[in-house]
Amino acid sequence: MSNWLPAALIALSCVLSVHPTARVETARILGFFASPSKSHIIVHCSVADALAQAGHDVTVIASGPNVRQQAKYKYIELEIMGDHPLMSSDIVDKRQPFWRRFGSFLAAINRNANETHHNPRVQQFLRQHHAGDFDLLLFGYFMNDFQLGLAAHFRCPIVVSFMIQPIYAVNKFVGNPSETAYVPGIFGYLVQPMKFLERVKNMIVAMIEEIVIQTMQDYQGSKYYNYNFPSDRYPPLDEVRKNVSLIFTNHHFSQGPIRPNVPNLIEIGGIQIKEKPDPLPTDIAKVLDESKEGVIYFSLGSNIKGSHLNEEKIKIMFNVISKLPYKVLWKWSPTELPGESKNIIFRDWLPQDDILAHPNVKLFITHGGMGSVVESQYHGVPMVGIPLFGDQPSNMVNVERSGYGLAVDYLTLSEESLNNAIQDVLNNPKYKEAVQTFSRLYRDRPMTPRETVVYWVDYVLRHKGAKHMQSPAVHMNRWQLLSLDVIGFLLAIVLTISVVIVKVCKLICCRGRKNKLPKVEKAKKN
Ligand SMILES: *[C@@H]1O[C@H](CO)[C@@H](O)[C@H](O)[C@H]1NC(C)=O
Ligand SMILES: *[C@@H]1O[C@H](CO)[C@@H](O)[C@H](O)[C@H]1NC(C)=O
Repeated sequence: MSNWLPAALIALSCVLSVHPTARVETARILGFFASPSKSHIIVHCSVADALAQAGHDVTVIASGPNVRQQAKYKYIELEIMGDHPLMSSDIVDKRQPFWRRFGSFLAAINRNANETHHNPRVQQFLRQHHAGDFDLLLFGYFMNDFQLGLAAHFRCPIVVSFMIQPIYAVNKFVGNPSETAYVPGIFGYLVQPMKFLERVKNMIVAMIEEIVIQTMQDYQGSKYYNYNFPSDRYPPLDEVRKNVSLIFTNHHFSQGPIRPNVPNLIEIGGIQIKEKPDPLPTDIAKVLDESKEGVIYFSLGSNIKGSHLNEEKIKIMFNVISKLPYKVLWKWSPTELPGESKNIIFRDWLPQDDILAHPNVKLFITHGGMGSVVESQYHGVPMVGIPLFGDQPSNMVNVERSGYGLAVDYLTLSEESLNNAIQDVLNNPKYKEAVQTFSRLYRDRPMTPRETVVYWVDYVLRHKGAKHMQSPAVHMNRWQLLSLDVIGFLLAIVLTISVVIVKVCKLICCRGRKNKLPKVEKAKKN
């Protein structure tokens, strides 16, 4: 009887004691996503959404309308400036040397980001909020280094969100190694393993990426940083960069390439994909549930309207699709339908992620946009791609190479070529098997992407920026990272010793010869 009090006290103290991995209290997080590309914003908003869902107080400032309407964050919308000079297609247009494209590309990005920065809403926000108002800056990175100055304004650590696999521009924040001998960079269009000449190309491309582009970027970055964050009130940009605590990369090693990552570079590939699909609209759900033989989903993406396509090609697509012995859900948003057919259900909008999650979807006919390809891979649905522009062709090359589907060329599209590809992917089980194997690999992780985001942001908050995770590489220069100074030093020692040895040898030999010389001469005389 008299024992209950101590027991209760122990129980109470257990509850109250702070477990090392206890949830951090609600933190105030500012998400800043200034990229004008919707596909980037979707990724960053998904990260912010996960954090808000986990109970943090999240404010998002981003370009364009909110892409996560149900999210619990506060959303401040910035109108998209200019006429979209920054479609990600610019980076992947292979017709020009990429450093030239990159120069004007970087300038356009920074000009645009500067304009965004001078948006009255941003300026007002900065006037009303001060150091200490936010515990963390979640920064959607798109070559806009100078805007990291926001973290200097709030004096808080930075978590960077990046839409694709890491490139040098983000690796440098955390000292992630390039390893050009076996890690292909994205600009060289190479895959592992690389043959000798491919490694040569990879090395050259990496040098351009790390030296030429970085120099251009540093120039742009400091120009706009000094303008917007003047040195009388703010620390230099180089100092601010070192406050990046963590990077989230929307990539997973199962997609390749295999590479080493520092502890504060965290993979959250597929963050934009819902873990549990939302319920489908009833009519669509009915079609999918009842078509046990399978359904084909057809969408050429959100940016392409039917009116952008050539009429002849539309006719070809319609003729092929309308003859298929399957129901087809066709996302189509122009003024006029290409025709009517019993097996086709046209809608100007369809919940793509939720549809692809349905087990009866047999095939996805797609434009090969990154978002679509990843969703299809995640849900294990084989693809037929009709890539149109930008990164779509190279995405589809990867799909073909991995055996997840086939691509048909839009310019030479014929009923025969389209039908052959569709029939092959529908009837040859190897495509489905390959993409479903990948789907299992891609999803097999200790934590889901959303859980990963919450865990690591809490970790950074718990440990006040988690500086202990920072690689010393962040504080070293290029020569030190390549150990060129050490190699030079060792070479100098070897050289010095060699010179000394040679000198000593010469000395010994010469003395030897002087001693021997008389004998030789004697011998000659004899
Ligand atoms: C870096 O972050 C810390 C808080 O973690 C802050 O006190 C400091 O002012 C920041 N430094 C810079 C240069 O932004
Ligand atoms: C940034 O934008 C502001 C406002 O439009 C402009 O006055 C300024 O010159 C720009 N900064 C630079 C470095 O171009």
